[in-house]
Amino acid sequence: MIVCKSSREIEKLRVSGRIVREILEEVRLKAQPGATTMDLESYVEKRVKQLSVKPAFRGYRGYPCCLCASINNEIVHGIPSRRRILKDGDIVSLDLGVIVDGYYGDSALTAPVGEISDSLKRLLRVTEESLQLAIERVRLGNRLGDVCAAVQQHAEQEGYSVVREFVGHGIGRALHEEPQVPNYGEPGHGPVLKEGMVLAIEPMLNEGAGAVRVLEDQWTAVTADGTCSAHFEHMVAVTRNGPDILTKL
Ligand code: MF3
Ligand code: CO
Repeated sequence: MIVCKSSREIEKLRVSGRIVREILEEVRLKAQPGATTMDLESYVEKRVKQLSVKPAFRGYRGYPCCLCASINNEIVHGIPSRRRILKDGDIVSLDLGVIVDGYYGDSALTAPVGEISDSLKRLLRVTEESLQLAIERVRLGNRLGDVCAAVQQHAEQEGYSVVREFVGHGIGRALHEEPQVPNYGEPGHGPVLKEGMVLAIEPMLNEGAGAVRVLEDQWTAVTADGTCSAHFEHMVAVTRNGPDILTKL
């Protein structure tokens, strides 16, 4: 069952969404050559304490940290480590969740480290564009497949692959609610979007094939072919005035 939220609940999700995005925007500035992914985790830990919010990922199915930090060929769920040093030309995907007053916030972005190549710039741009095109389809009466197809269409048209093993999701009083929001689909298919639905839409695009491998740590998902991958995520509410991005500052 897809839970529709009241406007009071949407405002609570907006509070969580803004806090999670604020911290992410700060931590993206820390993604500099020489920093370790554990430095980024430590910064997030400090900020969630200062803001008196709960990190949503730590302890989720045993995940050990607040932040997921995934470098280059890593798609999602990279575990922060003091041995992982960011270097000029890398990209790093940063994914964070918080809980505020029982409501979840979840957002992600991929940051360039120093100066990156034109081809990586294009990967980041197209991934973010595919998220924006999907958000544009979050309208009353549209179907979920319209949202999912928007990601796939743009990604594939630009020569990238979408990751199928991981999906976006409904979000509210739980991190993962129905429906699943894949990064592929058929326009005109799936549930009709209703007022108060809140979707976490999170395109993951690979330069090469879409296939995924999970490392021995049981968390880090990497591209099977070693190519780079980017990830952007926003929470979006369905309203009669169109898409309402809850993770926008
Ligand atoms: N944004 C991801 C998701 O919605 C983050 C989950 S990471 C985990 O699934 F560590 F919490 F699993
Ligand atoms: Co998510």
